[in-house]
Amino acid sequence: MSTFRSIEWKKDKLVLLDQRYLPEKTLYLELKTVDEVAKAIKEMIVRGAPAIGVAAAYGIVLCAQKLSKSHDPTRELQRADDLLRSSRPTAVNLFWALDRMKRIWQGFVGSIDDLKMILEKEAISIEHEDVQMNKQIAKNGAKLVPTGARIIHHCNTGSLATVDYGTALGVIRYAHEIGKKIHVFLDETRPRLQGARLSAWEMRELGIPHTIIVDGASGLVMKRFKIDLVFVGADRIAANGDTANKIGTYNLAIVAKYHNVPFYVVAPTSTIDLKTPTGTDIPIEERSPDEIRRIGDNLVAPKESPVFNPAFDITPAELISGIVTEKGIVYPPFKENLRQLFEKTPLLKEVTQNG
Ligand code: MRU
Repeated sequence: MSTFRSIEWKKDKLVLLDQRYLPEKTLYLELKTVDEVAKAIKEMIVRGAPAIGVAAAYGIVLCAQKLSKSHDPTRELQRADDLLRSSRPTAVNLFWALDRMKRIWQGFVGSIDDLKMILEKEAISIEHEDVQMNKQIAKNGAKLVPTGARIIHHCNTGSLATVDYGTALGVIRYAHEIGKKIHVFLDETRPRLQGARLSAWEMRELGIPHTIIVDGASGLVMKRFKIDLVFVGADRIAANGDTANKIGTYNLAIVAKYHNVPFYVVAPTSTIDLKTPTGTDIPIEERSPDEIRRIGDNLVAPKESPVFNPAFDITPAELISGIVTEKGIVYPPFKENLRQLFEKTPLLKEVTQNG
């Protein structure tokens, strides 16, 4: 377990570590309504695909907890569901978690108290499964890491982006814990600096040797130091393996290809979206121009200059060496192999059996 929790459920409130202020301040917020949860997702108080999914599930629970006999539960829960779905469009984990919650409340027959209890139970399961999955992903991914490996990582995919342990950073963490003597180069990840602010903070907490680099330095770093691997997370993996992840991932994948460095995407199966055929079908969130024009309170670009600020990009499947999941590592051809992954044993059985 980490020394902090990005997200914690406390019976009638959701406690979030406010990621906007790290590493300067460790500030926790208590949320009591679904509107507050939707706002927290939009404003990236909570962020990272798996953490967003868990927060949304608890958003539904908070809405349910406020239901009384005078309410129409379906109408209220539908409003909450719509609100949460509109918070951030790219990470499929958000929709995956809301679909799981919806399967319960839609057409529910029983008392409001039973509905509240069952919804809370489901959200808690989603939260706990996330940690289990990440630990299994870490074990699977660590097999790819040679002793003494130098690794490049983009954005933040650690405990902050999940409930605990992390995905790509979870693999890095586990490789460190089992004594592989790794060193990780962290892309700072413009414009919101998740790499410099959040991943570096986590690596320091865990005592993992690391160096922060600007996003544009990966080419030089690959040329000058022998880089063994790139590990990145994902917000959505299309049926053909094309992967949406933090802006800059695509550039990193191209640079890795040029330098013959294996490029791995690390994600739970809840990030794989077989209903989305290719990367071009993935909606890409565009965020405020001020994220680029300003750093903190400082203006770093003319405030009249036009800005294009996509939060994510798509890495084409052909640049990806493999996709590490809790069910194992998927290699090309992704279209066939991703589909097969879902035809195997249900996820939780496998995770439990493997400890
Ligand atoms: O905009 P963010 O910070 O939510 O983007 C996060 C990423 O792109 C992560 O790589 C992804 O969500 C995977 S987190 C385990």
